[in-house]
Amino acid sequence: MTVEVRNLTKRYGSLTAVDGLSFSLREGEVVGFVGPNGSGKTTTMNIMATLDEPTAGDVLIDGRSVIDYPDYARRAIGFMPDYIPSQSDMSAHEYIDFFARAHGLTGAKLERRVREVEEFVNVAQIRDREISGLSRGMKQRVSLARAIVHDPELLIMDEPANGLDPRARIEFRAYVRRLAAEGKAVLISSHILADLAEICTGCMIIERGRLAKSLSGDIKGMDLESVFMEFTRSETEQA
Ligand SMILES: Nc1ncnc2c1ncn2[C@@H]1O[C@H](COP(=O)(O)OP(=O)(O)OP(=O)(O)O)[C@@H](O)[C@H]1O
Ligand SMILES: [Mg+2]
Repeated sequence: MTVEVRNLTKRYGSLTAVDGLSFSLREGEVVGFVGPNGSGKTTTMNIMATLDEPTAGDVLIDGRSVIDYPDYARRAIGFMPDYIPSQSDMSAHEYIDFFARAHGLTGAKLERRVREVEEFVNVAQIRDREISGLSRGMKQRVSLARAIVHDPELLIMDEPANGLDPRARIEFRAYVRRLAAEGKAVLISSHILADLAEICTGCMIIERGRLAKSLSGDIKGMDLESVFMEFTRSETEQA
């Protein structure tokens, strides 16, 4: 599986949210996507996940444009948005099952896969509880289960560790490692730089929609905060 973001640009009126961004991802890679608030991370991820369209540029999954082949992209990509599930009257199981069916799973295969992901994210014990009554950490797990239920090759996670307590964050890092070990490519945005330094094989710092710095190779233990401060400016400095 290959992912190529080519010259991606998104404008909202006079504001350029993403400005000619290019990068690529390969299987087994876990790439951190960081940048100041408003630097274009969510916009980029939404376009990759076919939830938004670029003003210019493209994203190619295995050489196929996400604009021309959205169904191919949706099959290949699992997306974890930066908001948590709000389908309040559904149980965790009903929610995961619903998205598995939406991806075309049926019968014994459906049941097996739903059980498998429920075990993977550790929600099997609470699967019959309504999502609205779950803690934030549990909701995030359900959200991850939804993102991986169709066994996508690329995982796009927008601030998945946001609001999680230390234990839940440690567990989350373990899930990401296991997914990468299975050969998935993972793109993960976060403001918790220490978390990224633990799990990522590379890191991109963006500012005002442009790539400010790209780090590859072993970033474990790296002081990402210093690199971040060197290559970005605050929103007030940008104005
Ligand atoms: N629908 C929209 N209409 C107008 N402007 C938008 C829209 N969506 C995003 N923007 C603007 O695009 C820029 C990039 O926003 P984006 O949400 O991609 O940033 P981000 O890097 O994800 O920030 P954060 O770290 O706060 O999540 C911001 O200036 C934002 O205000
Ligand atoms: Mg965002």
